[in-house]
Amino acid sequence: MLAMEYRGPYRVRAVHKPEPQIEHPQDAIVQVTRSCICGSDLHLYHGLVPDTRVGTTFGHEFVGRVVEVGSGVSRLKVGDNVLVPFNIFCGSCFFCERELYSNCHNTNPEATAVGGIFGYSHTTGGYDGGQAQYVRVPMADVGPTVIPDDISLDDAVLLTDALPTGYQAAEMGDIREGDTVVIFGAGPIGIFAAKSAWLMGAGRVIVVDCVDYRLDFVRQYAQCETVDFREVEDMAIHIKKMTDWLGADVCIDCVGCEASGNFMQRLTGVKMKLQGGAATVLHWAINSVRKGGTVSIVGVYGPTFNAVPIGNAINKGLTLRMNQASVKRHLPRLIEHIRAGRIEPSRVITHKVPLEEVADAYHIFSSKLDNCIKTILVPPGVAH
Ligand SMILES: NC(=O)c1ccc[n+]([C@@H]2O[C@H](COP(=O)([O-])OP(=O)(O)OC[C@H]3O[C@@H](n4cnc5c(N)ncnc54)[C@H](O)[C@@H]3O)[C@@H](O)[C@H]2O)c1
Ligand SMILES: [Zn+2]
Ligand SMILES: [Zn+2]
Repeated sequence: MLAMEYRGPYRVRAVHKPEPQIEHPQDAIVQVTRSCICGSDLHLYHGLVPDTRVGTTFGHEFVGRVVEVGSGVSRLKVGDNVLVPFNIFCGSCFFCERELYSNCHNTNPEATAVGGIFGYSHTTGGYDGGQAQYVRVPMADVGPTVIPDDISLDDAVLLTDALPTGYQAAEMGDIREGDTVVIFGAGPIGIFAAKSAWLMGAGRVIVVDCVDYRLDFVRQYAQCETVDFREVEDMAIHIKKMTDWLGADVCIDCVGCEASGNFMQRLTGVKMKLQGGAATVLHWAINSVRKGGTVSIVGVYGPTFNAVPIGNAINKGLTLRMNQASVKRHLPRLIEHIRAGRIEPSRVITHKVPLEEVADAYHIFSSKLDNCIKTILVPPGVAH
């Protein structure tokens, strides 16, 4: 089969690999009809995630058709069209019982650090991902969800991560009626967080980034205000100026470890790897939120530590919330929002690229070329 393969930092290519096999009675094999490239894949692509092994296939956002099921699978049938959450989870451990699916204890040997994730290095279990023609899906009765007939494949593939993550980012902000919500990052996650903030009752939504075409898109898609951080000298003062000098009620980090905007953070976090990525947005969020406010973090950081202004957070009495999204928990509500026309996820898709051209697709998305927001990879033989 054709699959994306990692060869080292900034080097990926399409190769022929053996098709995956059923390895466990709870496995299914899914023939991929669409997969996405995510901002999280860029951390792998840039060589920032430990134990990213050469020869592995990325891709934690995919939909497809079930072509084979293990002897222990009862809910899923061959022929089902499924969307597969990026989390691999058992559904029955201490954490899954509390709907903390991203924190499942049974799907990653390093489970105390993080749950299982498709195509996301051996730190999350070493599973091959869905940027391929076929993928092995463990715990097949638990994660995969049959795609309702009235939901398009393009919308469905955005339900595997980007939309639920943006939604959970807003949810963890604990937004109250009329709140001012500041979202850092106008990638797909930030865009969906902005849209979700309105659905949760925000009175004002402000999105911060430095990429013009993304700021233009989010203004129009999510009817929000925007701030170009290149034009701002001090972020906390700027946000305070915009909010009667109190600060935002809620700040949301949809950027993570590769933030730009601060030279020392880039140097120590990204170049020298003295901390688990640039903590720029953590500083901006903690310092821009009002006293007693909430900071919600879905941007991804490295496993060691970051230098963050925790003293400010304590003195201001902040609530800090963060997690990898638990995709499955949000699906029923998000499908209702799509059906009601309150959110159209597929509008963020700017590029549909044949899987054969995966190397170009990563380069374009990584370098923010060609007004790229979200890229879909389409395997050979599948209708676009
Ligand atoms: N927690 C989860 O479950 C989860 C799931 C998916 C993605 N993520 C993470 O969310 C983050 C965003 O993902 P994405 O797909 O939208 O990525 P993306 O790369 O498309 O977007 C990130 C955006 O942040 C902007 N940015 C950089 N520095 C900034 C700064 N200092 N202030 C404001 N904006 C800045 C970039 O210009 C870019 O537009 C990534 O870290 C990704 O790993 C987390
Ligand atoms: Zn993702
Ligand atoms: Zn579990």
